[in-house]
Amino acid sequence: MPITTCIFDAYGTLFDVSAAARECAAEPGREALAAKWRDLANIWRLKQLQYTWLRALADAHTDFWTVTQEGLDYALEATGLDGDAELRERLLALYWELSAYPEVPAMLAALRDMGMNTAILSNGSPDMLEGAVKSAGIGDVLDDVLSVEDVGIFKPHKSVYDMVMARFGCQPGEVLFVSSNCWDACAAAGNGFYTAWANRAGEPVDRLPWQPQVILRDLTTIPEIAKGVK
Ligand code: LAC
Repeated sequence: MPITTCIFDAYGTLFDVSAAARECAAEPGREALAAKWRDLANIWRLKQLQYTWLRALADAHTDFWTVTQEGLDYALEATGLDGDAELRERLLALYWELSAYPEVPAMLAALRDMGMNTAILSNGSPDMLEGAVKSAGIGDVLDDVLSVEDVGIFKPHKSVYDMVMARFGCQPGEVLFVSSNCWDACAAAGNGFYTAWANRAGEPVDRLPWQPQVILRDLTTIPEIAKGVK
């Protein structure tokens, strides 16, 4: 089935989630963070995601901004950087204006030129996503920004992926779903999407019942992949 609709995960896929810690560490007077920013960024991301899965399982939903702060608080303590309220606020402020990966604007523009529907499907709360889309300057190459807040549960719950068919009136087989989170790409494949995993860090594939159809290093070739699916 030809692809009509290209759907992107946000954090880690379009937006560089490690940019907040990296950019903060480069600021004057941040020597303590400069020594540990990679560990901080990794633990922050891991805990943020774990909290989404745990809250979904425990039927204890909250918005992604809350779990982002909870993940950061854990990571600051784990790296011995806790107790600095100004540092915490600065890291959180930078999370609202994450950079997009360099290939993203041209890739989205190419999809639009091909007549594809384009959208984000993210755990992010609508205001966080609006901030990131605006600072990355990609609002005019996206048809929509879909947030899990409309269904009140995080990925990989099926109702999240079903939002795409409800919004675009398409079949799952017409959707190219792109994520840098392997578990997200796998779950999307399990829901019938044609799926590409952007494996930016060269990680092993997750051992889950479903697999992404395509594995990439970045998003440059997404328009060719969308065109090539028959
Ligand atoms: C998102 C997270 C999973 O944007 O990266 O949904």
